Amino acid sequence: MNTSAPAKQQKAFKSLLPILAFIKPYKLMVFYALFALLLTSLVSLSIGQGVKYVIDKGFVAGSMSELQSSIFFLVGLIALLAIGTFCRFYLMSWLGERVSADIRKTVFNRLITLHPSYFEENRSGELMSRLTTDTTLLQSIIGSSFSMALRSLLMLIGALIMLLITNINLTMYILLGVPLALIPMKFHGKKVRNLASKSQDSIADIGTYAGEIIQNIKVVQSFTHEDKEKQAFAKEVEIAFNIAKRRIRQRSMLIASVIFLAFSAISMMLWSGGRDVLSGSMSAGDLGAFVFYAIMLAMSVGTIAEVYGELQRAAGSATRLLELLSVETEIVETTSPLTLSNTGENSITIKNLSFNYPSRPEISALNNIDLLIPAGKVVAIVGPSGAGKTTLFELLQRFYDPQQGNILFNNADIKQLKLSELRKTIGTVPQNPILFSSNVWHNIKYGKPEATDTEVINAAKRAHAHEFIEQLPEGYDSFLGEQGVRLSGGQKQRIALARAILKDPAVLLLDEATSALDAESEHHVQLALKDLMLDRTTLIIAHRLSTVMHADLIVVMDNGSIVDIGDHESLIASSALYQRLCELQFDQNKDL
Ligand SMILES: Nc1ncnc2c1ncn2[C@@H]1O[C@H](COP(=O)(O)OP(=O)(O)OP(=O)(O)O)[C@@H](O)[C@H]1O
Ligand SMILES: [Mg+2]
Repeated sequence: MNTSAPAKQQKAFKSLLPILAFIKPYKLMVFYALFALLLTSLVSLSIGQGVKYVIDKGFVAGSMSELQSSIFFLVGLIALLAIGTFCRFYLMSWLGERVSADIRKTVFNRLITLHPSYFEENRSGELMSRLTTDTTLLQSIIGSSFSMALRSLLMLIGALIMLLITNINLTMYILLGVPLALIPMKFHGKKVRNLASKSQDSIADIGTYAGEIIQNIKVVQSFTHEDKEKQAFAKEVEIAFNIAKRRIRQRSMLIASVIFLAFSAISMMLWSGGRDVLSGSMSAGDLGAFVFYAIMLAMSVGTIAEVYGELQRAAGSATRLLELLSVETEIVETTSPLTLSNTGENSITIKNLSFNYPSRPEISALNNIDLLIPAGKVVAIVGPSGAGKTTLFELLQRFYDPQQGNILFNNADIKQLKLSELRKTIGTVPQNPILFSSNVWHNIKYGKPEATDTEVINAAKRAHAHEFIEQLPEGYDSFLGEQGVRLSGGQKQRIALARAILKDPAVLLLDEATSALDAESEHHVQLALKDLMLDRTTLIIAHRLSTVMHADLIVVMDNGSIVDIGDHESLIASSALYQRLCELQFDQNKDL
């Protein structure tokens, strides 16, 4: 196990290398920062000489004026040190912040293009934690730890040279101490790194857990699960704490052993040097300067040991971030994608389509679907829950690629089409309308960002949403809350409808778009939709007969397959499932 440790450590630091690509654009900043770093290190080192002067010229020689001038010299050096430190600190911290901001953007830009099933496999809390915690860790590494390490390294080398110049014999004590201090670094470093990565993961778990509970707070409270959730959350937190405890124990031991070894060496040296001063073979100033450099050296080694642990942690973060950056979307465009001929007419042909969700390879969600949707016609899809209706819509938008078969738009396979063009052609009102935590303008304009206010209001009017929006406290400027929590289900649905109307797509997919509306609003919205469906290829998933009846074609689905196709009259006559669906609704209406 010990033999593999160095290789692993090397690998850990290698994983930090790609981060250099993010630093590259700021070469000039790095140059200035390094210059400031070098300057401050040199000044710090020369302070040792200042100490020597103060002691030898001032105290030992007993001269007041010499003491004064050497103090001035010292203060001058310190002022220079302060200015240099300002520059170094500012520039390095700036770099850290800049680079982590860039990494955040790059990771987000990558995430947003990934195939939707990626987000089914990876929990959102974990991804959030990578965007925030992991990048913050890298920021602190680049902004402070790295510069601390570099400065310490310079100081270490400088102090060593000054030590050798001042007294070779005494330096030997120090040189014995330093390698000793490196032993615990090797020993504890690997443990720290492993625990650090575990620690990050457990923090992410906490975030995910809390996020979910907060989002579903009403469910928790209505089932009075507060105490249960408190306990479950406490458990997650304690797990994270225990891992952190083990990590900090390792780090404390690392730091303590380094400090013990380094300062023991200094004490030995003081003992030996003190004897030289007493016997007159060394000046008190030299010993003073020597002690100064020795402490500087010890502190540098200590800092490096500390930063070493930090770097191990950062390596974990970097690995995770780069992992994210290396994920490729599974929905790939061909090298020279086709553009849709924009005739406004879009027929859709589905050929022998079979699909199962990647997370459920054994269950097929769609089975050998063959279907022709003529351009400009309205096709309704009906069927029991879980039949695969929504799945079909997802495939039409190419959120997933089917395992078998094709979908053709105007005879072009959608896999050959430019993805953005395909999706611009399609407008959807999903089963669960998704709103953003912003105002009404933003939410409707999502369908067409460049739309004018009048266009937005017209779309809202057609979706029968204008009246209730006007009554909101600030009208169209009203904030809708996270995921639109401040609206009723039917109101959300109408905002989503307005969004689709504003988009004015050639192909319209309506998934239970009016299911949450009362009879009267539905009647109005239906009229608007009828108008909207003119000259547009439309697919409607609906349970209500009133919506379905007027469709040009009705597709009856069950268990991932198409069981019957026809118009209302023919299906009533021939399809057992359609009859059953109709009867159930008829009974319901009777009850009302
Ligand atoms: N993201 C997913 N991952 C795995 N399986 C899924 C996913 N979404 C849906 N399914 C499964 O695929 C099948 C078809 O689901 P789909 O959502 O298409 O049904 P539906 O016909 O729209 O039903 P409903 O009328 O209830 O909306 C179901 O068995 C469902 O459990
Ligand atoms: Mg559905």
